[in-house]
Order: sequence, then C-alpha cells, then structure tokens
Amino acid sequence: MNINPIQLFDAESSTFTYILAAPGSAEAVIIDPVDRHWERDLRHLERLGLKLAFVLETHAHADHVTSAGKLREITGAKAAVPSGCCITPAEMQLNDGDVLKFGNGERIEILHTPGHTAGSMSYVWRGNVFTGDTLLIDGCGRTDFQGGSADALYDSVTRKLFALADDTRMWPGHDYKGQSVSTIGWEKRHNSRLADRGREAFVELMGHLNLPKPKLIDVAVQANQKLGLPHGG
Ligand SMILES: [Fe+2]
Repeated sequence: MNINPIQLFDAESSTFTYILAAPGSAEAVIIDPVDRHWERDLRHLERLGLKLAFVLETHAHADHVTSAGKLREITGAKAAVPSGCCITPAEMQLNDGDVLKFGNGERIEILHTPGHTAGSMSYVWRGNVFTGDTLLIDGCGRTDFQGGSADALYDSVTRKLFALADDTRMWPGHDYKGQSVSTIGWEKRHNSRLADRGREAFVELMGHLNLPKPKLIDVAVQANQKLGLPHGG
C-alpha cells in the first residue's frame, strides 16, 4: 500500500520536514527536522499517537540547523545519518544499500546520492523517495560546496533516482516555488536542469550558476554535524 508522509514546511529556509508512519504500529520516523520547529513536530507526533523511532538527516545542511539532537533527547529516538557527512554523535551511520527498519515491518532503503554534498543520501519508502537536496522539483541542489560535484549529482539523479519507478512520489528537501511533491516520471520528462540534458551540458550549467554563499553555512554545517546541539547530545 502506498502511504504519503506528513509534510511540514519551514518558511524561513523553505525546508521540508517529513514524518513517516504506517498503520499497525505507533513508531514513526522524521526526516530533516528544523531547529525552530521542534515543538510543532512533537505536537504532530502527539496528536497522531506516534512514538519517534529514528531521526534521519539527508545531509549536513548549510541553510538551517537541525533539531535532531533535541528531538532525540526528548523522545529517545535514534539519530540515523549518512556516513559521509561527519555527523559523529549519531547512533547509526548509514551506507548505500542499507535498510532501516521501523514499525511493523516498515523498510526505508538507503541510496547514496552524492553531488549536492559528498555524503548526501536519498531515502525510499513505500513508493516515495525523499531526495534531500539532490533532486528538487524542476531543479536540483547546488554543487559548489561541501564536497559537491555536478558530475556526481548527474550520476546520482540519472542512474539512481531516475531508475526508480516512474510513479514513485518524489518529496524534495526544499521548494522555493510553492510546489510540494512530484513524481520520478514527471521529473525525468520535465526537470529543467536534468531532463534531456547530457552530462557535459549539465556540468557546464552548474558551473555558471553564480549563486551567493549560503548565509548560514559557516555556523549551520558545524552545528548540524553535532545534530544541532552545542555538545553533540
Ligand atoms: Fe543542502
């Protein structure tokens, strides 16, 4: 059965947070929670009678600080993070091909999708893929810092994400244009950065975006490598 996640939004950084839960168990997983919304997120879990089993990060973010450490402290959930992101206080370091189990037989498949950052992961669950900043709706994450690579992102998207079933619902880490969900098939056909663009043209395009440095990068990445807590929890 396909189940949608609960999608929550931080208007300041345009970040999506997701809560995953399925019938048959009260266990839930949260992906990419944002520091200033920890109370909101706990209220959602409480309202739905859910108990947090895992806090997942798709990467060490440069534009906002996670509440992973805080949520872990309060709920007793375990932090599960990409192994290549130097998020050292987490209980679980995830690698490509791992499966994270929760609830009543729920399985989250771990896909290493480097390019936005070297460690970035995407998570696949019940016909949904959570792509972090690797693939956005009609776009993709920038590739010019944190070990980013346009070449690697091209491979991650075209070989791994676009290899998923066309009807896989695609839930991005951010959206700046008011959209919230897409599908793999739609992005394959219509993503203006990646659809029908060869590797060389994509790398060229990504090399000339001239984006400003993220305002929070110097503080946010370091904080996120400690799960958002000064001492790492
Ligand atoms: Fe990011």
